Amino acid sequence: MQIQTNTWVSFWLLIQWTQAYQIFQARIPNGNAVPDPCNANQIWIGVGHQNPLGGGNRNPFGLDFDAAGKKWTVDLCQNDSDGDGKTNGEELGDKNCVWKIGDVPSQYIGLSHPGICDPLGSVACSGKNEWVDCGIKMKLNCSVFHDPETLNFTAHLPKTEVPANETTYICMKFELPMDGDFHLVAIEPVIDNEYVVHHILVFGCSEGEISSVPVNQTYVCGMNAGGQCSEVIATWTVGAIGRCYPTLTGFRIGSKGYRHAALQIHWTNPERVTGLKDSSGLRLYYTPKLRPYDAGVLITGQLDLLIPPGEMKVTMTGMCPSACSREIMNDSIYITSAGNHMHYIGIYGSVEQIRDGKRTRYLTNGTFNYNSPTIHEYETAIEMRPGDELKTTCVYRSISRSKTAIFAEDTYQEMCLSFLIYYPKQNVKFPACLQWSSISTCELQKEIVQGCPYKAFFNATNPSPDAMKLFGLIKQNCVPDGTCRKECKEAVKQARIHPCLKGDISRRLRIESLKLTDPVAKVRVLEFYAALDSCDVELAMESYSDNRINSTCSKNIDGTVVCGGAQSTKFIFPFLFLSASIFFLHVKACM
Ligand SMILES: *[C@@H]1O[C@H](CO)[C@@H](O)[C@H](O)[C@H]1NC(C)=O
Ligand SMILES: *[C@@H]1O[C@H](CO)[C@@H](O)[C@H](O)[C@H]1NC(C)=O
Ligand SMILES: *[C@@H]1O[C@H](CO)[C@@H](O)[C@H](O)[C@H]1NC(C)=O
Ligand SMILES: *[C@@H]1O[C@H](CO)[C@@H](O)[C@H](O)[C@H]1NC(C)=O
Ligand SMILES: *[C@@H]1O[C@H](CO)[C@@H](O)[C@H](O)[C@H]1NC(C)=O
Ligand SMILES: *[C@@H]1O[C@H](CO)[C@@H](O)[C@H](O)[C@H]1NC(C)=O
Ligand SMILES: *[C@@H]1O[C@H](CO)[C@@H](O)[C@H](O)[C@H]1NC(C)=O
Ligand SMILES: *[C@@H]1O[C@H](CO)[C@@H](O)[C@H](O)[C@H]1NC(C)=O
Ligand SMILES: *[C@@H]1O[C@H](CO)[C@@H](O)[C@H](O)[C@H]1NC(C)=O
Repeated sequence: MQIQTNTWVSFWLLIQWTQAYQIFQARIPNGNAVPDPCNANQIWIGVGHQNPLGGGNRNPFGLDFDAAGKKWTVDLCQNDSDGDGKTNGEELGDKNCVWKIGDVPSQYIGLSHPGICDPLGSVACSGKNEWVDCGIKMKLNCSVFHDPETLNFTAHLPKTEVPANETTYICMKFELPMDGDFHLVAIEPVIDNEYVVHHILVFGCSEGEISSVPVNQTYVCGMNAGGQCSEVIATWTVGAIGRCYPTLTGFRIGSKGYRHAALQIHWTNPERVTGLKDSSGLRLYYTPKLRPYDAGVLITGQLDLLIPPGEMKVTMTGMCPSACSREIMNDSIYITSAGNHMHYIGIYGSVEQIRDGKRTRYLTNGTFNYNSPTIHEYETAIEMRPGDELKTTCVYRSISRSKTAIFAEDTYQEMCLSFLIYYPKQNVKFPACLQWSSISTCELQKEIVQGCPYKAFFNATNPSPDAMKLFGLIKQNCVPDGTCRKECKEAVKQARIHPCLKGDISRRLRIESLKLTDPVAKVRVLEFYAALDSCDVELAMESYSDNRINSTCSKNIDGTVVCGGAQSTKFIFPFLFLSASIFFLHVKACM
């Protein structure tokens, strides 16, 4: 995996603004994902209110919710507040009325509004929806709008045909205003075709290398915009009216900041309608009155995922470890917002801040829904000191899947990231603090990782002397044909003492070797690994029986097993547990 800003920084969250009504959203199942019957693809945020954005008069569901003591009771769940023949529980994905606060609802797709009889305009609903005003549009009202120096411009696509595909990511690089030094301070959606637009992001592009992406031309992209455009500086998703950035900070654009940005629009066209067109975009508000701090984006989480199919609950975690957070910031930073990012099977996410080994707070903690993810904004920015840790937890439900999901951009693969907006922006090459398995991205930048001279080890054109020695040892004693030679067992034991053939870094090197482009080098490396693995079963059996016979064996914290005294290196079996499980797999396969 390439550890470079432009390749992996660009996966981004979608935004839903945290306000008072979100307290109530959390008290009903799927409260943050209730569809707006007036607008395909949009969310009715104030579920119990007549205004889709919350506040003001309550709708029939809101009245019942209030009567039930603002709680999700079995009565309320079994009631059909809007009289459309479906119970509130059925509409909100809790048809058995068993949901409790914090639970993941039994169903989280195919939801409908519990307070509006639908389909709107049907005979069955006549007279039941008189209060519904599909014309309500709430306007964003940022303080900067009242400042005569505030400027704006709209970045949008030219009228572009929407493919008859369920999901399309379309991008366009554009020029930011360059006639001054500005802070980007607010954004507002400018939606042309409400039926298809699901989210819009703007990525700041770094200059320097000549970009392969031309300006003002649309291209089909991934969840990534490409072309050195990696830091997300603006986000909008269905249901949101825009965003005023915290008053102390803004993203720097213009002569001293980003000069180019890429617009990315996620179109959903579930019915695969042909002939649709769209020219949506975002209006960007910017000001020459610079604010005290530049904003930056910090990404944390786990880059090494393996989510087996058919599971109710799979949990993955990733840290921004202390040593790494100390490296990426010189002084405290202040976090103004945070959100988890997963793909379709993500159901729950949290981010914990940890100081001196103790959790100081949750930055996020709640159910996750790809179609309406929550971003948490903090009224008082949260201080993060160098050395503080951030732990991201991601929970997936993979019952609908038949294949393992890994970390990748593809929407049917997964991610486990969190995005934090903070100030002041730090001057770092990679604005992130993540883990690949147990290894931090800070460590991966270094020459030596977990004792392994990682970068030099498997240089295909110029392998390190260590690698040559190990290659020689294994080549002389082992064969890559699936048989275990007696002499190979000893050679493997010896070889696996080397840090590059132990633990996570060893797996990482294997993954890298699969990506070698030189076919000769690739075959050589794969043969080496096949030979190295040829005695796994025999070694596992040996360790397992040794371990059973010898009660003096103990397991160190790093997972190595030491038998007969810690000084003796002869009986260290770092792979005991791994090997033992391989052994059992083999045994199982034979039964
Ligand atoms: C259930 O619906 C009926 C009829 O709309 C209403 O009178 C009653 O208060 C509701 N009960 C609850 C618990 O919401
Ligand atoms: C917008 O906010 C300003 C204060 O910042 C207030 O005076 C004005 O009435 C608001 N406008 C609307 C339409 O709410
Ligand atoms: C955006 O800027 C233009 C001038 O370029 C101005 O006429 C317009 O009122 C501004 N729009 C908003 C919504 O502030
Ligand atoms: C739409 O889907 C078809 C078939 O899956 C695919 O070949 C094509 O590239 C897609 N088009 C776009 C613009 O994504
Ligand atoms: C891109 O489009 C904008 C707005 O239409 C225009 O002002 C600008 O000159 C164009 N830039 C290039 C390089 O075509
Ligand atoms: C999240 O919040 C819930 C409810 O407040 C709590 O029980 C849980 O322990 C928290 N943390 C995680 C990681 O679930
Ligand atoms: C920390 O300060 C040094 C020296 O001023 C600077 O070179 C480095 O880029 C800074 N690091 C960060 C993360 O800002
Ligand atoms: C591999 O070695 C060659 C020759 O010494 C060197 O030019 C190249 O940069 C090395 N590659 C890596 C990835 O270290
Ligand atoms: C078992 O323990 C004894 C000493 O307690 C040691 O001499 C011997 O090597 C150990 N055997 C194995 C297979 O670890």
